[in-house]
Amino acid sequence: MAGAEDLSKGLTQLSLGVDSHKIIVGVDYGTTYTGLSYVSTEKKDINDIVVVNTWPGPARDADHVEKAPSRIAYPNENTDMESPRWGYQVEPGMTAYSWTKLLLEQRMPLGGYEDQNLEVASKAGIMKLPEGKTAVQVVADFLTEIRDHARRILEKRITEKILAATPLEFWLTIPAIWSESAKNATREAALLAGFEGSSDRPKDRIFMITEPEAAAVAAIRKSIHDGMGDCVKPEDGVLICDCGGGTVDITTYLISETSPQLVFEELCTGIGGKCGSTAIDRNLYALMSERFGNAFDEIPLKRKGPGSEFMNKFERVKRDFGFSKEDKINELRLKMNLKDPDPTFYDEEETFVLLSNNDLRKMFDPIIKQIIELLQQQIEDANREAEREAINRIILVGGFGDSYYLRQELVKHFESAGRITITVPDNPQSVIVRGAALRGLEGIRPKTRRSRRHYGFQRWIPFREGTDSELDARTDPFTGLKMVSGIMKWMIAKGEKYVDNYNSDPHNLKILHFEGDSLRKHLLLFSCDLRDAPERYDSDKIEHVGMIVVDFRNVDLAQFEKKKVNGIETTVLQYAVKVVFGAEEGVLKFLVIANDAVIGTANIDFSQKTTISQVHVPRSSSQPRMAQKSLEYRSPKKDTSP
Ligand SMILES: Nc1ncnc2c1ncn2[C@@H]1O[C@H](COP(=O)(O)OP(=O)(O)OP(=O)(O)O)[C@@H](O)[C@H]1O
Ligand SMILES: [Mg+2]
Repeated sequence: MAGAEDLSKGLTQLSLGVDSHKIIVGVDYGTTYTGLSYVSTEKKDINDIVVVNTWPGPARDADHVEKAPSRIAYPNENTDMESPRWGYQVEPGMTAYSWTKLLLEQRMPLGGYEDQNLEVASKAGIMKLPEGKTAVQVVADFLTEIRDHARRILEKRITEKILAATPLEFWLTIPAIWSESAKNATREAALLAGFEGSSDRPKDRIFMITEPEAAAVAAIRKSIHDGMGDCVKPEDGVLICDCGGGTVDITTYLISETSPQLVFEELCTGIGGKCGSTAIDRNLYALMSERFGNAFDEIPLKRKGPGSEFMNKFERVKRDFGFSKEDKINELRLKMNLKDPDPTFYDEEETFVLLSNNDLRKMFDPIIKQIIELLQQQIEDANREAEREAINRIILVGGFGDSYYLRQELVKHFESAGRITITVPDNPQSVIVRGAALRGLEGIRPKTRRSRRHYGFQRWIPFREGTDSELDARTDPFTGLKMVSGIMKWMIAKGEKYVDNYNSDPHNLKILHFEGDSLRKHLLLFSCDLRDAPERYDSDKIEHVGMIVVDFRNVDLAQFEKKKVNGIETTVLQYAVKVVFGAEEGVLKFLVIANDAVIGTANIDFSQKTTISQVHVPRSSSQPRMAQKSLEYRSPKKDTSP
């Protein structure tokens, strides 16, 4: 706790109101566990970062105090409860909500490694939401408790008065495989929880960092400085594999310098899937359902869901798996109404579910197989990109990264070939939260990152006779030329390198604005996960990310050309949109440019999800007004704003 004392001393010495001083708070909101860390900006080293290890609640498990369960229970569903309980305060038998983070991401993960049992778990009510609340609201309720806990811890260290005068900079981690809408949902929850924009602490800010990047920052820094030998060196290709509860996230970095500064860049597009350790839990549910049918399925969630006695025991069994070679039978107490149960699977007298090591192997192996496939794919991609066998290190982090069985299987597969070493840092579960604070403190980050997907807009180009379909033909209202619509303009390609705050090339737009029309113009952003993106936007491999709303209500329209169309005075809105990748906010940003000047930013609206079939630009010329007015897509939904 030396770091905490130093922080306290350092802060007490500060005079109040010194604006440049801040406290960085790392928040690793995980599917199963959440971590907190903090450091004063007066400090300069990874060892000054304090990982919070005190959490409220009687059920605290001394094994993993560096994180608290991502779990919340509400008073209206539990007796003798006046306010929500969270983390270790949630005890077996309470109605509580777990794994909610996975509900923030509704799309198929990259690489298609979907867990079929996720649906099973969801149907069994394991991932249900309280009535009347969305996943974002439940996550926000949980994060509110985390924010309050962070404030309480800091108040204790530095007094309420100093805390009130010191801005907090929150660095929240998110899976790198998250889609833009899942990232945005996380940010929304954090804003609702008051990490930024709260009236009592207006100077607090929130930033987001991807989990593997946070892990890389901390694990690589630690490896360079811990003096344990075999440290990370220039030219090393380091693969960070974050095996958490919900997701496995893999990212690869090429180290170019370690001293005096750490310089590294992302080597290829990272990959991942929802094959974290809860996938093993879901395999347990599937097996129980298969063995015991309704007798298991109908057991209420509070007796079998995450946090129940049954699952707490399974957690211990799972963590211990692999250490011992003997074929032991594990006993998990669970009372079930079974007629003549098979004594191999259920001990009726003791009410024990019996699980053999072979059963456990069957739960682990398919998940480990997915992880191996992901690793193999990433190593191949990285080596191809580097044009040499660049990867020589795998660093396993995350709680599941601590699994003896997983490590053994990975060693068998990768290390035995001789070139790759596999290491697990101390406290692999808290590496990520440490890295989040380190990012805020030192600004360490990769020099370049790789785009996870292609992102782009659709546009019109001159019609190519013999190539384009007449059905997609349009007449350019400005030039009268024959055009084809629906051709993608990709602003960034999958795998393309980009630096922080990289501004894409401009996407130029020219539309007619009729008086009385809405001044909020819409533009759809699309993405694609394929290596080679299709040319047309109506391919089923292209996803609609969201609707960008460009607001001209506060823009001086006198700067635009005016034109008479059918006798009506109209404004020719000629502008460009640039996409900003790698912003510290952790989400995509958009700049709007007109007459060579930035006239504003635009927001993306993820709620306006439209299927591709709904966003087809009308094809027939029987809609002249639409065709005449815009070279771009206009929202199918009538916008009623002025
Ligand atoms: N030794 C172990 N073997 C297998 N699983 C383990 C072991 N130790 C911890 N776990 C699992 O790891 C998960 C917790 O790890 P971690 O805190 O890294 O995940 P998380 O941050 O909650 O999830 P995510 O990052 O995917 O959202 C839990 O599902 C836990 O059961
Ligand atoms: Mg995690």
